[in-house]
Parts: sequence; C-alpha cells; structure tokens
Amino acid sequence: MPPRIYLDHITTTPVDPRAFEAMRPYFSEVFGNPSSLHQPGLQARDALAQARQQCAKLVNAASPDEIYFTGGGTEANNLAIKGVAYASQRTGNHLVYSTAEHPSLRESIAFLETQGFASTCVPVDRHGFIDPEAIRQAITEKTVLIATHHANHEIGTIQRIAEIGGSPAGKGSPSSATPPPAAAGCRSTSRPWAFTC
Ligand SMILES: Cc1ncc(COP(=O)(O)O)c(C=O)c1O
Repeated sequence: MPPRIYLDHITTTPVDPRAFEAMRPYFSEVFGNPSSLHQPGLQARDALAQARQQCAKLVNAASPDEIYFTGGGTEANNLAIKGVAYASQRTGNHLVYSTAEHPSLRESIAFLETQGFASTCVPVDRHGFIDPEAIRQAITEKTVLIATHHANHEIGTIQRIAEIGGSPAGKGSPSSATPPPAAAGCRSTSRPWAFTC
C-alpha cells in the first residue's frame, strides 16, 4: 500500500505522547467527579486545578479563574461571544467579525442580532488574512467585541491578532480569538483577549 500523507492536522492531529501519558491516569485510576467530596473526587479536583493553572500560563491569563473548560469549540465560542456581548450591554451593542469565521461564531452573532445587537462582517484576502484597516473602519463607538479565529481551522492562516485588536480604534474592545489549533502554536502576549481553545 502506498504511504498515506495526512494533510489535515490543523483540524485534528494525534495527541502528543507526552499529553497522552499525562492524561492516562485520569482515564483509568483518577476518574472521580471533581465536584464530589469523596477522595477520588478530591484527587480529580486537584488535577483540574493544576490543569487550569497551566492553561492560564499558556495564554497569559491574569488568573486561573479566567479559564473555563468546555466540551468543545462550539460551546466555547457561544460562551465567549454571548458572555462578552451581554456583559458589555451598557457600553454598546455592536460586534465585528470576518467572513472566514466558523459557523458557531457566525451563528452566535446571528442569535445576538435577534436580541438587539448589530454586527459588521469584514472581508479577508485570498490568504484568509483580515486587513486591520478594515477592522479599524468597522469599529464604532458602540463596538464591544471584535471576534475572530486566531488560527484558521481549514487553511492555517494565523491572524495578526495584536495588530487587529491593538489598533487605536480597537483599543478597549475586548476580542475573542479562537480556535482549537491556536493555543498549540501561538502565545498571547497582550490582554484583554478571550481565547477559546
Ligand atoms: C474556529 C473553530 N470554532 C469552533 C469549532 C467547532 O469545534 P467543536 O466541533 O469542538 O464544537 C472549530 C472546529 O474546527 C473551529 O475550528
């Protein structure tokens, strides 16, 4: 059989053997519910607290309390986008995103539009890059969120996140950067960002 070359690692890839080994006990020995008060539960809770600390360090979060674990990317996008939008209602009701976003991000914003929010969708170039100038022009005084993926799940483009969010017009707007592949290869150096991984 000819060797198979797998070219879709950006959407899913084998688990790093080191991560696999680190997780092994939690699939078989330390399987307690971290909310339970018995010994196996407390052990799982300690492990979860350690993982939360490590994730906080990875994305440069101010505190482990900023880290929320979800069942997947869709749930994370919903939580980040609706969470920021609702929490910022008093400041504004406008969101900015791009044409290259995952459906879970677009659908979250479409839902918010039925709840009184408005949005502007900016284009990407043929490589999937967002022009920071387009973001600058899309931002209004009512903008509360710039939502985009950090690394594209299909073509692998890594957005110039700091440039997009750090533009003078973007200053003060929280940004949500997704997706699953981003945390693996990129480190956040600036805040505030809502990373969903
Ligand atoms: C940017 C982005 N958001 C959300 C998702 C959906 O993730 P899930 O299938 O875990 O819900 C993906 C999956 O590829 C993604 O790339």
